Amino acid sequence: MNYDVKDKGLAEQGKRRIEWANQSMPVLNQIRQRFEKEKPLAGMRVAACLHITTETASLLQTLAAGGAQVFACASNPLSTQDDTAASLVVNDSIPCFAIKGEDTKTYYSHINAVLDAAPHFTLDDGADLVSTLHSERREMLAGVKGGTEETTTGVIRLRSMTADGVLKYPIIAVNDAKTKHFFDNRYGTGQSTVDGIIRATNRLLAGASFVVCGYGWCGKGLAMRARGMGAHVIVTEIDPTAALEAVMDGFSVMSIAKAAQIGDFFCTVTGNINVIRKEHFAAMKDGAIVSNSGHFNVELDIPGLESLAKKSREIRPFVMEYTLADGRRINLLGEGRLINLAAAEGHPSSVMDMSFANQALCLEYMVKKGSDLAVNVYPVPPQIDADIALMKLAAMGILIDELTDEQMKYLASWDIGT
Ligand code: ADE
Repeated sequence: MNYDVKDKGLAEQGKRRIEWANQSMPVLNQIRQRFEKEKPLAGMRVAACLHITTETASLLQTLAAGGAQVFACASNPLSTQDDTAASLVVNDSIPCFAIKGEDTKTYYSHINAVLDAAPHFTLDDGADLVSTLHSERREMLAGVKGGTEETTTGVIRLRSMTADGVLKYPIIAVNDAKTKHFFDNRYGTGQSTVDGIIRATNRLLAGASFVVCGYGWCGKGLAMRARGMGAHVIVTEIDPTAALEAVMDGFSVMSIAKAAQIGDFFCTVTGNINVIRKEHFAAMKDGAIVSNSGHFNVELDIPGLESLAKKSREIRPFVMEYTLADGRRINLLGEGRLINLAAAEGHPSSVMDMSFANQALCLEYMVKKGSDLAVNVYPVPPQIDADIALMKLAAMGILIDELTDEQMKYLASWDIGT
């Protein structure tokens, strides 16, 4: 079996951590038990370009239980958990190509390695696999039946591919399921980003000014949790409605140019490029701590920061201290890679449970549909979304009410007023 992981000796530690994650993934476990019996993915080769974490390992085991032959690579150079990657190879016989800290060349060679498997389906997080397939590996496209996309950034890229007429197979936008972005993007990013910043710095958030760039689902979660830690939260936005929402949620809203002068902590979660630029770094206070929790590190103008610095050093793991000409120090966390996965362990298992239940059920749906789906970016079928919410509630021991016949009739009527 072909694979590329840091150290197979880490496999036992990885196995224990995967088991721990699995204990908080009841919905995925229920799906896995059904997949073991029904084998809905039998004969399918699946290429998964995802963050190689313990939660992802649980998903990949579930797909393998469903009969798929699974091949895995990292969806970010700095998000891999090396012990998990080792365990996938040693304990699950899943070819895995992922090493934490790999350079860009290795990152793409790993993507190409899973594409060598001639997949029938792709699971992507950020669309690097899909984009490589549609540019450098076009000869593999004919065999691909469908795919899924995990994250906002990837869905945006896929929509651009559709608009340009280049997308060649149907893809389901898992990110857009309610049971995904309401929970993973908000509560997952909120907790794991604060976790990553604290693990990297061990600094106190209480009383600090914490600048959140972007008030989408991830920004909302992060702002809420940073406030919970006692920080004064400042939000920056380009969208007037989102900015207004942040104001009415009780946050200070201002331009990044102004926030740059005030912030102690900065974190970008916009999905856009060069959100914090050279001129903003130049205006920051001594000791400012800058990170990104969006999919790509392009949200920060790192070359701009480097050009301002007269020297830099890694002052502690995941903290690069840049000293400017006047002696001010700016600290960049985790090379600007998503800090929740670079310095911590990503979203907790209980939210990934729903995200990955969507992945597993959408893959099953696509296998069943066969060639019936035209090339497009599709939403998650609403029934799958609703079923996952119900399964999650049931696993939490929570029962909810059902509409009475009278209520159903009322909702369908137009003639009953005051
Ligand atoms: N994205 C964010 N957190 C994650 C996790 N724990 N596993 C996989 N992908 C993630």
